[in-house]
Amino acid sequence: MSASKSTPVDRGLNDVSESLSSSERTQNNILPQRRQLLKDQIALIQSSRRFLSLKAQKPLDELHSEIIRCTKCRLAKTRTRAVPGEGSMNARLMFIGEGPGRTEDQKGRPFVGRAGKLLDEMLEEIGVKRSEVFITNVVKCRPVSPEGRDRKPSEDEISTCTPLYLEKQIDIITPTVICTLGDTATAYILHKHGLEPGMISKIHGSTFITHRFKIMPMYHPAAALYTNELKEAIQRDFERLEALLKQSSLESFRS
Ligand code: URA
Repeated sequence: MSASKSTPVDRGLNDVSESLSSSERTQNNILPQRRQLLKDQIALIQSSRRFLSLKAQKPLDELHSEIIRCTKCRLAKTRTRAVPGEGSMNARLMFIGEGPGRTEDQKGRPFVGRAGKLLDEMLEEIGVKRSEVFITNVVKCRPVSPEGRDRKPSEDEISTCTPLYLEKQIDIITPTVICTLGDTATAYILHKHGLEPGMISKIHGSTFITHRFKIMPMYHPAAALYTNELKEAIQRDFERLEALLKQSSLESFRS
């Protein structure tokens, strides 16, 4: 997941090489056979991921066409467009926000307003392309107040939407790391996995481990639009996220 043109196999090998002690590296102690074995293992992992992603594309497309036609809750009455989510089928990293805002409701795409620009910037800073991750929300239609403002989704909207859509997206994509943006997504995912949410101001940037994936809660980027302190906190959390992704990819090469 770097901005460079190296292939994923090269990057995997670089990660493995970086994990060696400096003396091992300076002695160039990776035996050619070991290097070849690693290359073969990584190529195998990638081809099985490609195979799985082909298998996963159809169910995800079908799920997304269900979402855009959904009328299961009141949000369907006020939405312009449903926003299923977007990104890579192979994504190891999934971002989950709260719910679409005004711009997302108009465009049918997640995080494309001002908060989305900040998310794009942060991704760029850690060398991850938006197209490499999967971005979605707890609810798929914009929660709007009677005055026409964005609001938080209600408990019943969340409990109607998530088993039908978010949970299925997670099952299909099987991310290694889920980054929850803001308190709604964080509380939902941590609760779901029997973990105590706690205040986002206390737990942002920490890693929670479940048997399916790791969870890193962060402040919602919209909150950082007006507060420099929060923007800096998100920047630091993205650095932690970068390290977590590196560590998780080394673990998958070792397993
Ligand atoms: N805020 C969210 O939580 N999700 C979006 O898609 C946009 C803004």
